[in-house]
Amino acid sequence: MDIRNTPTHYGLIAKLFHWIMSLIVICMLCIGLYMVSLPNSLDKLQIYGYHKATGILVLSLVTLRVLWRCFNISPTLAPMPNWQKISAHSLHIALYVFMFAMPLTGWMMSSAAGIPVSFFGLFVLPDLVSPNPTLLTFFDQTHKTLAFILIGMILLHLLAALKHHFINKDDTLRKMIK
Ligand code: HEM
Ligand code: HEM
Repeated sequence: MDIRNTPTHYGLIAKLFHWIMSLIVICMLCIGLYMVSLPNSLDKLQIYGYHKATGILVLSLVTLRVLWRCFNISPTLAPMPNWQKISAHSLHIALYVFMFAMPLTGWMMSSAAGIPVSFFGLFVLPDLVSPNPTLLTFFDQTHKTLAFILIGMILLHLLAALKHHFINKDDTLRKMIK
């Protein structure tokens, strides 16, 4: 298997980035929605801590992923009408933007709450904004709204992949797996 992308397939590194990050992002969405419903307790605080640190991991991985993508060719899209090519491309860009926006709004929310973000107890990240209740509400709402939009985008992305595989019977899904 090629390490780098080829005109017909994603390479090993792009596949690892895609599937490892997909798993982490989907778990982060589920854990985020679950943890906010918990009653206040030490366990809840601990889950918040892991949620924040894992979100920072997503931010680091997506930065490396975009750099890797810049130094690689992209496999050509399966034959499809132009509007579908543009939609697929726009959705991919939006997914990248959200993989930056989710951690950044979370980090800003924590800074606005005056709670520094620790990366799994290894080091503490600098605050992005000063403690401020108005900003806290703003970033809390933005983080939540973006999360629901991201869920919708992932569902659309999944349905598109399944449609290409089972209805169009083209190589769209295979080039991200094989
Ligand atoms: C891929 C990255 C991330 C995803 C997908 C994600 C997703 C979510 C979701 C779905 C919620 C529940 C929203 C709600 O119903 O109120 C949430 C809450 C939260 N997230 Fe994230 N998050 C990410 C990264 C981060 C980061 C990096 C931080 C902080 C450094 C963070 C801090 C928080 C906090 C503090 C809450 C609780 C807000 C509250 O109690 O109202 N998140 N997140
Ligand atoms: C739920 C299961 C998922 C499946 C079956 C899936 C499938 C695929 C497939 C087949 C492609 C290649 C599309 C093409 O080149 O035409 C792709 C690309 C992509 N996927 Fe997913 N995906 C999933 C989840 C996710 C998630 C959760 C994210 C991010 C939040 C994501 C982000 C992306 C991005 C950014 C690309 C574009 C890669 C590039 O060309 O740089 N995917 N996905």
